[in-house]
Amino acid sequence: MGKRDKKPNRRRHKGEFSNDGEDLYDQHPPASPSVVDEDEENSEEEEEEGSDELQSSSPDLTSKFLLYQQSVQSPKGDISYLQKFFLMYVGGRQPLHFQEDFCGTALLSAEWLKADTRRTAVGLDFDLEALEWCMDNNISKLGADVYSRMSLLHGNVLTPLDAKQVTSRSHELIQNISLDDEGEDLVHDGSDSLPKRDIVCAFNFSCCCLHKRSELVTYFKNAREALSKKGGIFVMDLYGGASAEGQLKLQRKFPTFTYTWEQAEFDIVSRKTRISLHYHLQKQNRKIRHAFSYSWRLWSLPEIKDCMEEAGFRSVHFWLREMPDASEMRRTDGFGAGRDIKYEEVKNFQQCDAWNAYIVAVSV
Ligand SMILES: C[S@@+](CC[C@H](N)C(=O)[O-])C[C@H]1O[C@@H](n2cnc3c(N)ncnc32)[C@H](O)[C@@H]1O
Repeated sequence: MGKRDKKPNRRRHKGEFSNDGEDLYDQHPPASPSVVDEDEENSEEEEEEGSDELQSSSPDLTSKFLLYQQSVQSPKGDISYLQKFFLMYVGGRQPLHFQEDFCGTALLSAEWLKADTRRTAVGLDFDLEALEWCMDNNISKLGADVYSRMSLLHGNVLTPLDAKQVTSRSHELIQNISLDDEGEDLVHDGSDSLPKRDIVCAFNFSCCCLHKRSELVTYFKNAREALSKKGGIFVMDLYGGASAEGQLKLQRKFPTFTYTWEQAEFDIVSRKTRISLHYHLQKQNRKIRHAFSYSWRLWSLPEIKDCMEEAGFRSVHFWLREMPDASEMRRTDGFGAGRDIKYEEVKNFQQCDAWNAYIVAVSV
């Protein structure tokens, strides 16, 4: 999932240190990542030379997209927070219409649609391989009802009106759809009509894929434009902290594979970093090096807030949590790091080794 068929992943993915798949207040403990020490890393590299490189298109359980979803994402936790934010800052109705920008395999959208038959979802990404995988593995399998409520769009978040709809592979692949705003709270294109959204999100640090300030403002304007005139929220996430601004390698063990987050560099002039995700399937003795690679600009919280305000959002709210630092992770055996850490709304927050944030922008 990403430019040139690479899907990014984040350094401190919420699913990496926190808990996936459980209610916000009833989360199970995560497998904890550990800092890779030199010896372990060297033996890993030696082993790699003799191992099989997996092709990214593997249709089996070793698909890089499946590994990504298992190791990185926290759809239930994210949705729980999204609902909470909507009720806090908009309220008066249940959020039903959801848009997942930079959606990759749109796992969040699939989770959103499962919970309530009135819900709709739009997913937008420019990685067609990820979208097709999503359609075959996350959407089609949920049945006709879910399929009919999901619009998967192939396009650039900077020019969403040019996006094309992706359908199931068994259908004609692409058809035209318009995200143009002709009606009060509907988006029309003749055959399809999409309701304006209650919530738009950009998760897994995807806004860091946009490197220029002008792109960020354009994107935020597009997100705001997609929101209902009755009120809605745009939510994105971000990471930071002292350890975010340097080289770093973190590893997390899962029952059948090991996942490594590698931060190869951090340039303080451009604030750009290069992130790679690697997977090692022990049983098959196979590695997928650089399964996903990203060039990110690490934006600061006030830069994001300024751009959101410039894009016309009425208010911006920061929800932060401190993440376990590298030395804590080294000490943690098995499960535990990051357990029970919750996000809190803050006006100020002292710098620490690592933090994650949700940034909530309210449209009206
Ligand atoms: C870090 S991944 C996040 C995927 C997913 N949202 C998640 O939570 O795991 C970033 C995604 O953004 C997509 N992307 C990057 N720049 C984009 C752009 N300008 N327009 C549309 N998609 C973009 C990439 O293809 C990739 O799938």
